[in-house]
Amino acid sequence: MLTSVEPYPLVADGLVLDQLTPGDVERVRAYCQDPDIRMWIPLPAPYGRADAHEFITGTQLQGWQTGTTRTWAIREPISAATLRLAGTVDIKLDGTGSGEIGFALAPDSRGRGIATVAVRAVLRHALAPSGIGLRRVVWKAVVGNWASRHVAVRAGFTIEGTIRSEVIHHGRPRDAWVGTVVVGDPAIESGTWADVPVQRLPGA
Ligand SMILES: CC(C)(COP(=O)(O)OP(=O)(O)OC[C@H]1O[C@@H](n2cnc3c(N)ncnc32)[C@H](O)[C@@H]1OP(=O)(O)O)[C@@H](O)C(=O)NCCC(=O)NCCS
Repeated sequence: MLTSVEPYPLVADGLVLDQLTPGDVERVRAYCQDPDIRMWIPLPAPYGRADAHEFITGTQLQGWQTGTTRTWAIREPISAATLRLAGTVDIKLDGTGSGEIGFALAPDSRGRGIATVAVRAVLRHALAPSGIGLRRVVWKAVVGNWASRHVAVRAGFTIEGTIRSEVIHHGRPRDAWVGTVVVGDPAIESGTWADVPVQRLPGA
């Protein structure tokens, strides 16, 4: 059953996972211009301050209020006294004990394993009886999103395969990779990350 939850923070190995605030609007607007984010995550185009404001003060808050999605800001320390918004991680709950994880980082916060640490923290919390108490967490990504797949494998997801025509992405049906973690899985990398094709966006 889905119930309203007051937003709460999580601690994750050197990162803080807390709530987005109106002070994050400009940072969210800016990093949502990134071509990789635009490539892999459906967003309004163009994406402006009003969209970021609506996401922060509307959509993601409603997710907590309706119990359907819990969204955390990922904050990384950039000095002894300063945390910077690195991106977000969220889990969508279906009300039957399963959840789907999603994540994105600003380009200047990538390449340091931040997404893996944040996803692991949310997984631990999601599967713990003292946390959300789910039986399973699912990861899905449009086929070709190797950076996302890498994070999923490092965080402990078992890649199950490819679901054909799983999502409508940029207006057309696309296949998606799917991975799962279930209660009792070891919280370690479950697969091998090697020999993957590198596909960069033009100009990236
Ligand atoms: C997915 C994401 C959060 C990963 O962040 P990150 O872990 O900091 O990303 P990195 O740049 O460290 O890349 C992770 C790994 O994937 C690899 N990688 C990155 N882009 C790649 C690409 N286009 N092709 C192949 N490998 C790629 C990196 O080399 C790295 O591997 P390594 O640690 O062995 O060197 C980030 O790329 C992102 O925000 N992407 C856009 C949003 C998105 O796709 N979200 C997931 C939707 S399912």
